[in-house]
Amino acid sequence: MSGNHPGLSNNFIRSGEKFEWSKENLNEIKKIISKYPKERKQSAVMPLLYLAQEQNKNWVSIECIETIAETLQMPKIRVTEVASFYSMYNSQPVGKNLIQVCRTSPCWLRGSDKITDTICKETKCGINETSEDNLFTVVEVECLGACSNGPMIQINNDFYEDLDQESTKKIIENIKNNIPNKIGSQKGRKSSENA
Ligand code: FES
Repeated sequence: MSGNHPGLSNNFIRSGEKFEWSKENLNEIKKIISKYPKERKQSAVMPLLYLAQEQNKNWVSIECIETIAETLQMPKIRVTEVASFYSMYNSQPVGKNLIQVCRTSPCWLRGSDKITDTICKETKCGINETSEDNLFTVVEVECLGACSNGPMIQINNDFYEDLDQESTKKIIENIKNNIPNKIGSQKGRKSSENA
């Protein structure tokens, strides 16, 4: 998705902490770069942004951008341009679980307001807020492209669809208790087949 989270600024900020690749990520980067022709290694900027975000507690700091630029030998501004175009790169600290609630018409008609209320109640977060334990950040976003399975939310990289208040509450409870959640439709339908 292009664009940005309402409430999360598009301006990347400094964390004040040096960012260096972990040993595992250095190995992973070698593999990623080897997929591209030598003179085109800058094409690896998006996977490296993902790795940096994952390593940096779910957000991309200016220090991350600088390290990526150095790794790929490209100008910092080029890395920033890519990072700021896509909403999946977080420009500021967020909780361990970034919950994006779709509020566009198809999801709204199917009850996204109730889903938002449940999420705010269960996470003790307002919209654009992070919970005190840093476990959750809640934002509202426009269409995430799963309209036929609305209401739906995205938590980090995963979609949860066909939600009602009960299933939403369960998802939040499971996260709190470290229990893996079922991704996709919460009503068991396959893909976007007729409900
Ligand atoms: S309107 Fe919610 S996913 Fe499209």
